[in-house]
Order: sequence, then C-alpha cells, then structure tokens
Amino acid sequence: MRYLILSDIHSNHEALSAVLARVRRKRWDRAIVLGDVVGYGANPNQAVDLVRALKPLVAIRGNHDKVCAGIESGEMFNRVALQAALWTRQRLSPSNLRWLQSLPEGPVVVDGAFAVAHGTPIDEDAYIFGEIEALNVFRQTSFPLCFFGHSHFPVIFGLSPDAIQTVLTRSPSFRFRLEPGLRYLVNPGSIGQPRDGNPLASFAMFDSGTRVVSVYRVPYRIERAQKKILGAGLPRPLADRLALGR
Ligand SMILES: [Fe+2]
Repeated sequence: MRYLILSDIHSNHEALSAVLARVRRKRWDRAIVLGDVVGYGANPNQAVDLVRALKPLVAIRGNHDKVCAGIESGEMFNRVALQAALWTRQRLSPSNLRWLQSLPEGPVVVDGAFAVAHGTPIDEDAYIFGEIEALNVFRQTSFPLCFFGHSHFPVIFGLSPDAIQTVLTRSPSFRFRLEPGLRYLVNPGSIGQPRDGNPLASFAMFDSGTRVVSVYRVPYRIERAQKKILGAGLPRPLADRLALGR
C-alpha cells in the first residue's frame, strides 16, 4: 500500500493545492491527515473541502482543529493563534464544522501497519522536538512505526536496541528506507506552515511494501497566501512567517 501523508495544513489553500497537484500523477492508495487542517491561514473551508475530497482518507484531529471547532477554548494558545482560531470558527461552514468536530483523537492504527498521532501517541497536544521526547514516546508505547505532526518540521527518529538515531530530511525530495527490527517516529513536515527554515510545503509518501518513506518539498504561491491572511485582517506575523519557514 502507498500512503499519502499530510499534516499541519493550517488553512493554507495555496500550499495544499500545490501538494495535491504534485501527487496527481503519483499512485497512492490511502490519504492520511495528521491534524491541524485549519487555524492560522485564510482559507479554512477550502482546506477542509480539499481534505474531505481525498478518498479513502484517515484523518485525526490536531490542537488547532479542536479550538477552531469549539471543542476546546484555546486558553493555552498564544494571542495570535487564538485570534486566528476564533476567526476560523466564525467562518467554517456548518458541514465543515461538524466534520472537524467528528475527527477522532490519535493514536489511530491504520491497516494494522502503523499508528498516527498529532503531537504524540501519548498526548495529542505534546511535542516531539528531539531525541529526548522521541525516546520518551518510544518507552511509553509499543508501536513499531508512528507518523506524527504538530512540530512542523520533517524528521525521522529511529530506535534500535542500543541507540536512538535522528534523520534530518533534505530538500527537494528525500527517501529513507526503514530498517527491519527498528522502531520509527516519522514527521512528514507541515504543508501550510513549515518551521524548519524552509518555506516550501512539506509532505510524505510511505510505501508499506518497500518500507520507503519519501519526503517532498513543494513550492507554492506564498505571496498569495500572505495577501489573503492580511486581507482577512489576521495578524501580520502569520503572513510573515510563511516566507521565512519558521
Ligand atoms: Fe500545527
């Protein structure tokens, strides 16, 4: 099976459209969305519509989806994130609001092949930034392979019986074969708001037959997404950071 793995779209219609155009001629059997379809960007309904059209689809909720859908109040959010979430909540169509509210909490196991989580499979709102957090997750779970998002940068953590290994991905496309017997935590990066210093949209494909993870970086019309954010009256830092990739 070939999986299309998308995360942290954040209402960025331009970035998601560019990614979907890139995969149009690629074969994939199932789309996986690791949460944060909305929040920050100016096109929440367009982003949800594009995700809902992916079939078959396994999607889980992210922390921004929860606040934008009114499941949580967002008291832990910073001012900019909360402002964008409340703006989003007012604009979501009733159907898209219900769809976001219905997204399950991770971890969810897909086809018996791997788990998916937003932040971590222990706590959907927690972050895996580095090896300390990754090791903690490996110790407290038993999934051989888990895809996660939330931190907005593509990375692969591998655990062998005696060491943890961090694999940083490289642009514009990066292939990594998962070794048998090792456990892995894999972040495909963020489509709508990358934070690894590279502003290009990031997503992954996973072939469960060959066990190859491929991470791709895709250029998109950043200026157009920025103009929409400013035109909507959303905070300027949300537009500025898109060009910086952080
Ligand atoms: Fe996010």
